[in-house]
Amino acid sequence: MARDSRPSPVYGNSSGSRVDMALITWDDHGMQSLGQASRTSVPRLPLTCLLFVASATAGFVNAQTSTARRTVWDGVYTEAQAARGVTAFGQKCSGCHALAADGKAPLVGEAFWKSFSQKTVGELLEFVRSNMPNGNPGSLDEATYRDIVAVMLKSNGFPAGNTELGQNTIGDVQIVPKDGSTELPANALVRVVGCLTRSGTDWVVTNATTPERAERVPPAGEDATRPLGKRTMALKFVVTRLDALTGSRVAVNGLLIGAGGVDGINVTAVNRVAQKCP
Ligand code: HEC
Repeated sequence: MARDSRPSPVYGNSSGSRVDMALITWDDHGMQSLGQASRTSVPRLPLTCLLFVASATAGFVNAQTSTARRTVWDGVYTEAQAARGVTAFGQKCSGCHALAADGKAPLVGEAFWKSFSQKTVGELLEFVRSNMPNGNPGSLDEATYRDIVAVMLKSNGFPAGNTELGQNTIGDVQIVPKDGSTELPANALVRVVGCLTRSGTDWVVTNATTPERAERVPPAGEDATRPLGKRTMALKFVVTRLDALTGSRVAVNGLLIGAGGVDGINVTAVNRVAQKCP
């Protein structure tokens, strides 16, 4: 975890305004219900922060080394490894989690995709190692953590292959849907960059980039100059005046409403990254 000392960028820094808003969540937000389900026995973790640390580390390594894109569909663990993982999971995890989509605090299906799609298996491993078992993180040996990740991959329907998930082969493996889609699921905490524009009484971001996981740390200054996209994203539940930022290039953080954000973003923060847009 030595590499996570990179400072997180403060977007308002160079060119001005930063507007933060209260996060409005809704009741069926899965992470919240997971927290509630376990509230009686374990303290609720600030999961967003935990994921941030995990992915800042792994994302940095990844950016330096990834060349060809390997995915979870390429057979990145073995059946024998997953079988070992079943035993370890039964001892260390199954008291709180199920490996079935309809079980308690499930680690498969919708919950898995919401937290981990478009991340890497290295980030998944890092999250588990740094936070689980809850109350005793980091208490298992490295190989056992990898075995447990292998059984999580198997339970999510990804195929086994001929090579075990190893220390050096795990980092760059992308967790993506089979069709290769790069869209994030509903309720994922994301950021987009684009041009802040008024549309009637609503705010939208035009020329928006594809929504990315919010905890991924962009290199300093990237948002001000990166190529923009073609989307228009509706900004929902905006509770702060944004008029002063009209027409600027902004980074918007929030929760996706609908898969890929078809119905917009439930906004938590809007930060100016450049005066002019596009
Ligand atoms: C004592 C109960 C407990 C144990 C044991 C435990 N966990 Fe957890 N786990 C939690 C809680 C609680 C959360 C969710 C935190 C939150 O939502 O605030 C969580 C979250 C997770 C998540 C993130 C889930 C998501 O949808 O984002 C993963 C992955 C995970 N645990 C894996 C494991 C693994 C693997 C083990 C075994 C090594 C394990 N946990 C053991 C309580 C536990």
